[in-house]
Amino acid sequence: MLSWDDYKSDAPLKTVPSQPVDQPLDPDTLAKTLASQPANTAAGLNGETALNGAASSAQDEISRTVEEARQLIADLDRDYELMSSGDPAPAVQETPAAYGEPSAGKEPSAGKEPSASKEPSASKEPSATYKEPSAEEHEAAPATGLEELEMGAKRVEVDDKRMINCRADLNQLVPFKYDWAWQKYLDGCANHWMPQEVNMTADVAMWRSENALTEDERRIVMRSLGYFSTADSLVANNLVLAIYRLITNPECRQYLLRQAFEEAIHTHAYQYCIESLGMDEGEVFNMYREVPSVAEKASWSLSHTQSLSDPNFTTGTPESDQELLRNLIAFYCVTEGIFFYCGFSQILSMGRRNKMTGVAEQFQYILRDESMHLNFGVDVINQIKLENPHLWTPEFQREAIRMIVEGTELEVAFARDTMPRGVLGMNAAMMEEYLHFIANRRLNQLGLPEQYPGAENPFPWMSEIMDLRKEKNFFETRVTEYQTGGALTW
Ligand SMILES: [Fe+2]
Ligand SMILES: [Fe+2]
Repeated sequence: MLSWDDYKSDAPLKTVPSQPVDQPLDPDTLAKTLASQPANTAAGLNGETALNGAASSAQDEISRTVEEARQLIADLDRDYELMSSGDPAPAVQETPAAYGEPSAGKEPSAGKEPSASKEPSASKEPSATYKEPSAEEHEAAPATGLEELEMGAKRVEVDDKRMINCRADLNQLVPFKYDWAWQKYLDGCANHWMPQEVNMTADVAMWRSENALTEDERRIVMRSLGYFSTADSLVANNLVLAIYRLITNPECRQYLLRQAFEEAIHTHAYQYCIESLGMDEGEVFNMYREVPSVAEKASWSLSHTQSLSDPNFTTGTPESDQELLRNLIAFYCVTEGIFFYCGFSQILSMGRRNKMTGVAEQFQYILRDESMHLNFGVDVINQIKLENPHLWTPEFQREAIRMIVEGTELEVAFARDTMPRGVLGMNAAMMEEYLHFIANRRLNQLGLPEQYPGAENPFPWMSEIMDLRKEKNFFETRVTEYQTGGALTW
């Protein structure tokens, strides 16, 4: 009986038949091939390619009797039996040409210790419950990017790319199909910022002062941070755990990765505000399950992510594709497109009145990012509609409208809760009008009819803040603040 030490030291190296990547090595073929070769053939473990150079000289040093070679074959047969019964295979069987042509530098030579990477890997062994997908199942499953490599497969062409249910390789960013997605990725990177760059000194002084802010203003700051401190985590988790694997396009995924990092920055920004102001962190971070107007919004968003976060969920049927669309509408159009707007306009109104200017500046950067997230989401939804018109049924359109109206009502309730009285030149009725105006815009963006006829924007300065391409201003502001805030010492 040969041990692994016999294989690695002086056992003759056998030529094993090369074969396609996705097929197990056939023990009968292997035994016949080995038996037909002279015992001292010094072919490498990787098949025909090893019969050269160093291996040839090794050949001269190695000699074995035919009897020993037969013993080796018998051992291999035994090991293949073990392998097929589920026991770990010996390392020598991990190395056949099944893994493709090795590079010259990696070619194992006779008498060498096998590298760690050649050891059998438990993760490579199919589990007892694993079932090879049928041809139909394989065809039906959208690509994830984690598939086995298909050597020499047809190159990806633009027309192979799809927003959902794509079966082309997802690991190749180019050729671009959706230039708008790539452009948004570039724009997002150009807008990069970090919360610590914003000077919070004046805010800390104002928050600690007894008279600088009214109780109503303090309530707005607390409620806004209460909602947003967890809302961006909900959005990030939805992106990473639900949406990402279902969007089958590399340039959109590139933006999703950027967006996920921006959501992390936003959560960081809220935490940074909460910590700078010395707020009770437990109180703020728990508002989404302790304050009803905050909790209602959070649980509405969560209710639209749960089915997609099921690891068994996959798109590919009209029902499941519509479920993904529901999620995109719930998160991009309602959560990021409506739920953020009461808090944004309240805090930015505060900043315009020279109150809590650091918090307001953080919110301004966040609003700039969020308006891009929203526009990206709208483009994705509209592209899915374009490629899959059968999903956009009249019934589904009614459902989308209902979702936007529901979201608007929850945001109006949040406005009433945060503004029991007029404050900062605004009140709950004005906010309701503003939210109706915003909801009409969201409906328009999806090609749906407006539900709030005649709603006007009572806060035109919000549009100015959002619509302004103000990268230059932002950076000028930041340079000024570096100098006055003492963040740099010269
Ligand atoms: Fe965010
Ligand atoms: Fe966002």
